[in-house]
Amino acid sequence: MSEMSDIAIASQARESELFAKLAQDLCEQGYSVQLNAVDLTLCEQLFHCVHDLTPEKFTPAGIGREQQNMHNRFVRNDTICWIDGVSEAGADWLGFAERLRQFLNQQLFLGLFSFETHFAHYSPGDFYRKHRDAFKGEANRVLSVVLYLNPGWQSSDGGELVIYNDDNKELQKVLPSFATLVVFLSEEFPHEVLAAQRDRYSVTGWFRLNASSADKIDPPR
Ligand code: OGA
Ligand code: MN
Repeated sequence: MSEMSDIAIASQARESELFAKLAQDLCEQGYSVQLNAVDLTLCEQLFHCVHDLTPEKFTPAGIGREQQNMHNRFVRNDTICWIDGVSEAGADWLGFAERLRQFLNQQLFLGLFSFETHFAHYSPGDFYRKHRDAFKGEANRVLSVVLYLNPGWQSSDGGELVIYNDDNKELQKVLPSFATLVVFLSEEFPHEVLAAQRDRYSVTGWFRLNASSADKIDPPR
């Protein structure tokens, strides 16, 4: 067997292990934080991709899906760039998301249908106030995914993701360190991004239900 395929087999095994951990955490607590668990080649590709993007490719982020054009700088002031899968890194990230989607649908019957995703850039001082990614009954975004792309991030750099439970009790603070992956049920967990001291890069995505039949699908919980 060639060395190449040994590496491929090893990275496939690592991915299966990651997906199993995510599924277990989602089942038990509705969210999961995994440090250094995503394939480093994929993370490095995305890192280079986001750093190669020229500033004009990033646009101010909107709030809520019906108000994409309402930029409220008091709520969030990061900038984003949607990923379409044209670049190799983008295509590989969409491939990862698709494998995760199929795995979670098989394991947890979440009925995840589509995936939308963008790079996000927070300049020093940027933040995203406490919010939810989806609201009960809207049956829209089901699962949120964030992958951080910041080598050598220190606690003193700030920029933590703070995850709260449904009663707004703080559950966990997450440093946006390179290759850290966070997934959570979009309706269940208010969360916020604290201001950082340095540039903060991430890839954020959401799995959605099939909107056309959302009213026929049982909610995830
Ligand atoms: C978002 C979000 C979290 C993060 O884009 O909705 O909450 O840590 N991002 O970047
Ligand atoms: Mn969010």
